[in-house]
Amino acid sequence: MQRVLRMGIAVNQPEQSLSALKPFMPASDVSLAIRAAFLDLIGDPFYEKEQECVRYIPDGLLIVENGVIQEFGSYEALQSRYGSLPITAYPGKLVLPGLIDTHIHYPQMEMIAAYGEQLLEWLNKYTFPTEAKFKDITYARHMAAQFLDELLKNGTTTALVFAAVFPESVDAFFEEASRRNLRMIAGKVMMDRNAPNYLRDTAEQSYLDTKALIQKWHKRGRLLYAITPRFAVTSSESQLELAGKLRQEFPDVYLHTHLSENVNEVALVAKLFPHRQGYLDVYDQAGLVGERSVFAHGVQLTDAEFQRLSAAKAAIACCPTSNLFLGSGLFKFHCAKSRQHPVKLGLGTDVGGGSSFSLLRTIHEAYLVAQLQGRPLSPFQSLFLATLGGAEALCLTDKLGNFTVGKEADFIVVDPQATPLLRLRNPHVPAASIEHLADQLFAVMTLGDDRVIQATYVAGSLAYQG
Ligand code: GUN
Ligand code: ZN
Repeated sequence: MQRVLRMGIAVNQPEQSLSALKPFMPASDVSLAIRAAFLDLIGDPFYEKEQECVRYIPDGLLIVENGVIQEFGSYEALQSRYGSLPITAYPGKLVLPGLIDTHIHYPQMEMIAAYGEQLLEWLNKYTFPTEAKFKDITYARHMAAQFLDELLKNGTTTALVFAAVFPESVDAFFEEASRRNLRMIAGKVMMDRNAPNYLRDTAEQSYLDTKALIQKWHKRGRLLYAITPRFAVTSSESQLELAGKLRQEFPDVYLHTHLSENVNEVALVAKLFPHRQGYLDVYDQAGLVGERSVFAHGVQLTDAEFQRLSAAKAAIACCPTSNLFLGSGLFKFHCAKSRQHPVKLGLGTDVGGGSSFSLLRTIHEAYLVAQLQGRPLSPFQSLFLATLGGAEALCLTDKLGNFTVGKEADFIVVDPQATPLLRLRNPHVPAASIEHLADQLFAVMTLGDDRVIQATYVAGSLAYQG
C-alpha cells in the first residue's frame, strides 16, 4: 500500500483501510449542555474597541447538538427552553474556544529542548536525524498518538502540522486525528535538496505523493491538507513550481511553509535564488502566496513583504517561544497588525523549535516579545490570536474560533485558580467585570500552562480531563 502511494497512483484503495478504523472518539450525536462562565472574541481587538469584541457571559449556557453549537447565551435566558437537558456545570471555571496552533511539527516532539544551536545548525544536528525515524509507520503512529494527547492536554483542538517527508508519516497522523474526530490540517514535507539523502524526495515524486495524499485525506471528515515545502533552502525551484501547480489544481488546500525566520537563513536564500527580489518573492514567483497560504515566523520580513502578504490575504504563524529559543529574533506584531496593511496572524508553538506545547506559554512569550518593543499585547488581543485570529489565519472562521451558533463545538474549560499561586492571584471567580476578567486572564496567561486546562471538548465530546 505504501509503495503504491509513493508511486502516486491508486489513490482509492487506501480508503478501505481507513473506513475499517474504529472511531476512537465519535462525534457526539446527543445534546450537551454546559453551564459556566464563557469568554470568546467576536471581533479583532487590534482594530476594534475591546468592549465591542469581547463576549463575556459570567453565567452562560452552551447547547451542543451533533458536535455543533446549537444555542449560546445567558443561563437565565435559555434555562426555560433547555431546562430538561442534563447540564454539566463548571462553577468557578472559564470556558474558552479551543485553542488553535497555526504551526507545529509532530515528528519533532521527541527533540523538543535541544541545546545550543540556531536554525540551520539545529536542523542538521537534531531535526533531520529525528525526522528520519518517521519512515516507519508503526513508529509514526505511536508518536502521532502521543502528540495529539499532548495537544489536547494543553487545550489545543486545531493545529496546522508539518509531518515528515515520508507519506506514511502523513497517513499515521491523519489516521490518529481521524480517530479522535479532530479538525487538523497537515501535509508531507517536500524537500529535494540541502538535506541528507535519507530525507530527500525529488520534485516530481513530491508532486505525485502530495497529490495522492490530497486525494486521500483533504476534507475527509474534519481533516484538511496543506501542501508543505519545508522552506526555500531545501526546495529546488522546480519543486516550488510543482507546489504552485498543486495549489492551482486544488485551490482549497493550504500552503504551509517557513519564511524569513533567521538572518543566516535569509542570506542563504538570497544566495540560492539571486534572481529573486527577496525571500517572499521566491514563493511568490512559484505561485505560493495567496489566501490559505500560512508562513511560519516572518521575523526578518521587510515592510514591503508585510505589505505583499497583506495584499495577498496570506497569513503569518508567529512562533515566539521558537524565535527566542533558536535566537531568531523578535517578531514585529505592530507591522503584521498595522491598520494600513493588516496581515492575518495566528500563534504557533513550532514544537520542537518552540519550547512548549502550551499556547498559554506561547502567549506569555508573545507578550514578552511585544513588551521588549514597547508595545505590550492586551490579554484580549492575545486570546484573539490563539482563537478567532488563528481561525482567520486558517480561513476557518465559519467553523471555529468562538461560540457563535453553527460553529463546531471545540472548547476548553480553564481553571483560573489551578495552582496555589493562581488561587492567591485570582481569589474571586467568576470575574465580575470585563476589567476584572482581563486581569484574571492575564494572570492565567502569564502563570498558566497545561495545569489550568481542566477539560478539552472536541465536537461536543469530552476528549481530555485534567
Ligand atoms: N525552517 C525549516 N525547517 C524548519 C523547522 O523544522 N523548524 C523551524 N523552526 N524552522 C524551520
Ligand atoms: Zn517550524
